[in-house]
Amino acid sequence: MIQLAIFEDYQSLSRQAAKHIVDLIRKKPNAVLGLATGSTPLGLYQELVNMYKESKVDFSNVVTFNLDEYVGLPHDHPQSYYYFMRQHLFSKVNISTANIHFPRGLFEDAGKACREYEQQLQDIGRIDLQILGIGSNGHIGFNEPADRMTLETHITELTRKTITDNARFFHDSGEVPRKAITMGIGNIMRARTILLLANNDTKTAALNAMFSGVIDPNIPASILQLHENVLVFVNREVAKNLKYRSTALVN
Ligand code: PGA
Repeated sequence: MIQLAIFEDYQSLSRQAAKHIVDLIRKKPNAVLGLATGSTPLGLYQELVNMYKESKVDFSNVVTFNLDEYVGLPHDHPQSYYYFMRQHLFSKVNISTANIHFPRGLFEDAGKACREYEQQLQDIGRIDLQILGIGSNGHIGFNEPADRMTLETHITELTRKTITDNARFFHDSGEVPRKAITMGIGNIMRARTILLLANNDTKTAALNAMFSGVIDPNIPASILQLHENVLVFVNREVAKNLKYRSTALVN
């Protein structure tokens, strides 16, 4: 079931998302979090850091798994997703390095890199809370629109749309890696709860496809309609043109 919550602005959306995570960690100090990168969760991570500084949350037993990583970028590359996480969250809270899990973007054997991450995901069982953004093309993680969906960790070719969308983080689109390693759809769907954040009206079409009642591998996020517990947090700007059919929770 997908529940929609609408927030006045990005800050209140981020704050509520952080509160959701902190409530979970208080109930379950060794919670397993699935984490996302991109511009959307930046506010959430900032709020988590703030709450940590105010001694409202303890990350020492929290376990994390990130969704994806660019192929070819080492952890210390400023555009790598590991670097992003270190910069915005890991270096600013008391999370234990041993509890951080990341797909390897730098490898000689792609199959081995995928199998290793998949094994770590299988060993942990279920992610308690998976944070997701959504691509303007409907991707989740780097599960790109395609004829088929892949369940397990895999290497994916980024679509032209994703390369264009992500070029803003690089000097130009030629620098955006063409491939990524990503959790599969099955890994994401196994999470107990999914919290999807969207704060930009470029995501409206993808969200509407996600609420449409149709599962379409060309809109990977549409699979979330089969999940038992998905929360979608949007701001008012995004909510304006949404065709969500149940009554939305307005915050
Ligand atoms: P964004 O990316 O948060 O930078 O918009 C989201 C995504 O591509 O999943």
